[in-house]
Amino acid sequence: MLELEKLKLKLKELNKKAAGIREIASEKRAEFGKKINEERKELLEKIAVEEKKALDVEVKELDITAWSNVNEKEPEFYSAEMGSKHSLMTELERVVEIYQMMGFDIMEARQLDDEFHMFDSLNFPKEHPARDGYDTFRTEEGFIPPAHTSTMQHRALKKYKANLEKGEAIAVAIPGRVYRNEDVDATHEHTFYQCEGVYVSENCTLSNMLAILREFFEKYYEQKLNIRTQPGYFPFTEPSLEFLIEKPKTLGGKKGDYLEMLGCGMIHPNVLKCAGIDPKKYHGFAWGGGIDRLVILKYGLNDIRNFESGNLKFLRNF
Ligand code: DAH
Repeated sequence: MLELEKLKLKLKELNKKAAGIREIASEKRAEFGKKINEERKELLEKIAVEEKKALDVEVKELDITAWSNVNEKEPEFYSAEMGSKHSLMTELERVVEIYQMMGFDIMEARQLDDEFHMFDSLNFPKEHPARDGYDTFRTEEGFIPPAHTSTMQHRALKKYKANLEKGEAIAVAIPGRVYRNEDVDATHEHTFYQCEGVYVSENCTLSNMLAILREFFEKYYEQKLNIRTQPGYFPFTEPSLEFLIEKPKTLGGKKGDYLEMLGCGMIHPNVLKCAGIDPKKYHGFAWGGGIDRLVILKYGLNDIRNFESGNLKFLRNF
């Protein structure tokens, strides 16, 4: 066992021991507590030293495709104790946390979906070329690994429809992993993450949407931002917009340097109708954008492919 693992195990045992303080006679508790605290401090210091050492080590690349006889010797994987969360997951959790603080419910997208949720429920006309624009993968059975988190819109609308009838707005954020059959380069990956937002009420407007988006991005980048929109096209929104933010100076931006962050718009009446919501009575807006893109800007990264590469040298920078 590695020294770091041994120390962490000791810490776990010590914490267990500390939890037993209630069973100690009250006159001996102070002394017991003091001893535990001293031991814990010492252990934490040793752990910090070992962690630093582990980070400094040149990480040997593992060729997971190389042939090996697993019955002969244990495969050389790093122990789970040494692992940490993937940086995209940490950022995704932050995104979810911000939406939750803003009062949104969270749903999770699927990793395998179907033609109905990918296209029909989103007002893509049958045989329409817009369907090709999504470069979808398909399984032999005709299932679709979702090419965007908008596949969840119909489910979200149906799930929360009853709330509307009680006079509550629908407000849901849906993170998910998405897949596109595209050529991969520094700015395009076949696998990436998106987060969808869906909001429906009796009287919401586009300016409410812009306020929500501004709030989200200002919380994520922890500063005031200049925003801009430009016309876009999505069959499931009317009007459709692209939402841009001015790249902040603190992140290396210059004035007028606007970056497209997501697609958005007022939900098309056909999408509401398809979920059984009366578009004459209710209005909604929705948006969806890449998480990878958010993170790239936040950390000044230049190659999206690193996220899925399993390159530990890259991942340890966070
Ligand atoms: N699903 C779109 C895409 O991946 C982005 C999008 C646009 C999502 C408009 C929306 C929306 O919810 O209303 O390109």
